[in-house]
Amino acid sequence: MTDIRPMLCAAALLLANVPPSSWSADPEVLRPRVPAAEIDAVRQITNPLPATPGIIEQGRRLFEGKAFCRACHGADGKGLGGDIEPGSLKGPLPRNFTDKDWQAARTDGELFWILKNGSKGTAMAPFIPLVLTEEEAWQVLRYVRSFGQP
Ligand code: HEC
Repeated sequence: MTDIRPMLCAAALLLANVPPSSWSADPEVLRPRVPAAEIDAVRQITNPLPATPGIIEQGRRLFEGKAFCRACHGADGKGLGGDIEPGSLKGPLPRNFTDKDWQAARTDGELFWILKNGSKGTAMAPFIPLVLTEEEAWQVLRYVRSFGQP
């Protein structure tokens, strides 16, 4: 009979080497979420709303209120909302919006796509149209972008 113990040890070592996915500059975080067939078109889309204090404030109200983004992404946008029980989320952690590498890697079109489609296999669900209208989604994204500002 084969001894599977060495194989189990190897598997445990592999798992131990997987870093938490919210770390900055983690290639898994930067990997595009939009499917390859759509990404060129999606990346061209820009936010139709200007980054005025009024729009950002409307986005903040949605983020903290009816769209409950705060529950997972946190009031500080760092991706560990107060409602998250450690170990309760299956899959990757909510995105850390203060990660400058991630902010630079994504266009507005990609963020909007996520709000429409969610991120398959993770806790990030689609919010348009059930929770947010498209206009509200653009407002909330202005607030998400504000976490990347100094
Ligand atoms: C139930 C928890 C949960 C809630 C509520 C939630 N998110 Fe997320 N979000 C996640 C997780 C988990 C990820 C990471 C998904 C991944 O790695 O693909 C994520 C990722 C994202 C991303 C990054 C996708 C990318 O391209 O890297 C954006 C943008 C985002 N969320 C915006 C929002 C907004 C805006 C709201 C509120 C309308 C919201 N999320 C509500 C859990 C949540």
